[in-house]
Amino acid sequence: MKRVAIVGASGYTGGELLRILSVHPSVEVKVVTSREYAGKPVYYAHPHLRGIYKATLKFKRLNKPEELPDVVENVDLVFLALPHKVSLHYVPKALEVGLKVIDLSADYRLKRVEDYKRWYGYEHPYPDLLEKSVYGLPEIYGDKIKNARLVANPGCNAASSILATLPPAIAGIIDLDHIVVDVKVGSSEAGAKPYRGGHHPEREGAARPYDASGHRHVAELEQSLREFTGKEVKVAFTPHAVSMIRGSLASAYSWLIKDVTPLDVQRAYAKLYAGKPFVRIVRGPPMPYPDVKNVYGSNYAEVGFALDERVRRLAMFAAIDNLMKGAAGTAIQNMNLMLGLDEDEGLRYLVPVRP
Ligand SMILES: NC(=O)c1ccc[n+]([C@@H]2O[C@H](COP(=O)([O-])OP(=O)(O)OC[C@H]3O[C@@H](n4cnc5c(N)ncnc54)[C@H](OP(=O)(O)O)[C@@H]3O)[C@@H](O)[C@H]2O)c1
Repeated sequence: MKRVAIVGASGYTGGELLRILSVHPSVEVKVVTSREYAGKPVYYAHPHLRGIYKATLKFKRLNKPEELPDVVENVDLVFLALPHKVSLHYVPKALEVGLKVIDLSADYRLKRVEDYKRWYGYEHPYPDLLEKSVYGLPEIYGDKIKNARLVANPGCNAASSILATLPPAIAGIIDLDHIVVDVKVGSSEAGAKPYRGGHHPEREGAARPYDASGHRHVAELEQSLREFTGKEVKVAFTPHAVSMIRGSLASAYSWLIKDVTPLDVQRAYAKLYAGKPFVRIVRGPPMPYPDVKNVYGSNYAEVGFALDERVRRLAMFAAIDNLMKGAAGTAIQNMNLMLGLDEDEGLRYLVPVRP
């Protein structure tokens, strides 16, 4: 049995890690941390886990990175489900004591130091670790993840956008200078702590753009497109807050730079995602395009496309659950790879979404 810790286990992604790991056959949760719930059993923060974890698994208090070696003991791997800029100094401490690390924050996702200044407004203090960290989208970087000690789990809107756009970009079908991405995302993406624009009375019934020209996740998308095409790519990216709790639906548009048929485009997706256990290419009846409803609560991603030959435009789609394929599900998939387990262990299940 492998042993893991979850730092920041009282939040939404921490709760999803606990939910998945409660039925994982090869991994045991040994340590969970929270300042607010310190000393309380897991179900105080996650009532749906009452009776699932023993009451003896209690949140430990972890106030600062220096305390990590005493609090997070005897585990093989630690998940950091902390806000960004908080994870920043926990990562080197965890690596120092020999742990494998999966960081769910944005602190180690970008390779270039200058990108942290541009997108996050701070000088990254550990450029050497940025070089070593592996971007944790297993469908794309799976081989590197297997040997990584530090994996930077993707942002949810970045994950859906990359899954949608990368296959046609790699296949040389679309104009890399003109890519437009529009994402609809659910309110849980903002985490468990309420804020004015995100809490229920404000969010219910809403459909509004936010960070319409400069959302940070575009930096991750551009990074992956650059790495796989060798071209400096700039993407027009706008997320929309919509009235759902879970889900990230990326609708991306670009224009054809060569004549292709729908079958050619389908082949581009199939080439990248062949053998990838959690990507489903959606085509044909009864519903020809991805839907967040079909992946709710699961680690699956649906991808699809529409070729509009009249205007030579390719629309590219991906639907994921932001807390699962966009966060905790992918983190467990990464953990499986890093610990030498089967990639899909503990993740092959569906949640009922239709009557
Ligand atoms: N929500 C999503 O859809 C999503 C998707 C992809 C990635 N992410 C990223 O994953 C990370 C976690 O997100 P989340 O949605 O789970 O957030 P969350 O619900 O707000 O949970 C944050 C956790 O971090 C702890 N924490 C907060 N400030 C801390 C501090 N200064 N020191 C120590 N612990 C602290 C909190 O517990 P206490 O306050 O009790 O200590 C809580 O357990 C974030 O970086 C987020 O950007 C989120």
